[in-house]
Amino acid sequence: MHIQVKELSKSFGGDYAVHGVSFDIEEGKLIGLLGPSGGGKTTILRMLAGLEQPSSGEIYFHGRRVENEPPQKRGIGFVFQNYALFKHMTVFDNIAFGLAVQKKSRKETRERVEKLLNLTGLAGLGGRYPHQLSGGQKQRVAFARAIAPEPQLLLLDEPFAAIDAKVRKELRTWLREMINRLKITTIFVTHDQEEAVEVADEIMVINKGRLEQKGTPWDIYKEPQTPFVAAFIGESNLVEDCSRLRGFEREGVAKGMIRPEFIEIFRPGEGTFVSAYEKGTVRSLFFRGTSWEVEIESGPHRLLAYRSLEQEALEVGDQVGLLIHRLYRFDEHSGVMVENASKIDPLPVYI
Ligand SMILES: Nc1ncnc2c1ncn2[C@@H]1O[C@H](COP(=O)(O)OP(=O)(O)O)[C@@H](O)[C@H]1O
Ligand SMILES: [Mg+2]
Repeated sequence: MHIQVKELSKSFGGDYAVHGVSFDIEEGKLIGLLGPSGGGKTTILRMLAGLEQPSSGEIYFHGRRVENEPPQKRGIGFVFQNYALFKHMTVFDNIAFGLAVQKKSRKETRERVEKLLNLTGLAGLGGRYPHQLSGGQKQRVAFARAIAPEPQLLLLDEPFAAIDAKVRKELRTWLREMINRLKITTIFVTHDQEEAVEVADEIMVINKGRLEQKGTPWDIYKEPQTPFVAAFIGESNLVEDCSRLRGFEREGVAKGMIRPEFIEIFRPGEGTFVSAYEKGTVRSLFFRGTSWEVEIESGPHRLLAYRSLEQEALEVGDQVGLLIHRLYRFDEHSGVMVENASKIDPLPVYI
């Protein structure tokens, strides 16, 4: 189902939980709704589902305005983080619940539930009760129950939050494959950036009730539009004024963000390089399996950078040079990537 949301807002007693959010979702896409706790993610889902009335704004499903339609008319499946299975019903009856509401025949119901049990890897478990299942199995039952009535939109609110890390990783991959196969438009809420990056076709970053950015995981990593997005996705160093960094003097006063991988570290005597480098002192070193993560104090900044295991090892207290190859420079509404101007400087300098 194609979803369109225009200037959607919700206030509770004067405080905005969601504020002027607009987006479009193409049919069949898996969208990750990512952001810190309290940002308004659940409220957005609840408005889409019809469980919460918007304060203002419009919601369209396939071009049809739905704010005044009751939840059961909207064709939505919902999975919550705490399973919310019916405790006194078997797995079979839990999955069949929505079909009973639709008054499907007994034969049709049996066939559909059996198919879903197979699809979700729960074959043979239809007679069990929720307390006889693991967390991962319960969440798959919740998923099967949500898709049983063939919804056109599936809403998953932190579905794996209560599940331990290893099983959560398996469930992510499982979910991705399942959605690909079923081709249901899906919105997946998470506060875990790794989860969103791994699962979603596109990510919407939500903060303080506002949509900060929407794009593919790669777009959002590569071109964050706000300092918040930059800090939320991947590792980053935020600086108050990028024009104080050598090679970026022409940028004017503006906030900047430097990913660790944009910084090259030089020890004294190591190679030649262009005239614009920052000087710094190594403050800490962490072995990260495939590289060293190095924290460097440089003027007012603490910068995180990486150093290859192939290069000579650093020690805490070492004086080093830093070449900041590029950074993101932010104005009020967008971020742009800027290359270090001095990289075209012909004068080599040694330290
Ligand atoms: N029914 C409610 N009444 C009052 N405030 C609410 C209600 N539901 C949510 N909020 C508030 O709205 C904000 C967003 O909440 P929520 O949508 O649950 O965020 P998230 O799901 O991103 O953690 C929070 O400040 C929360 O306290
Ligand atoms: Mg929530």
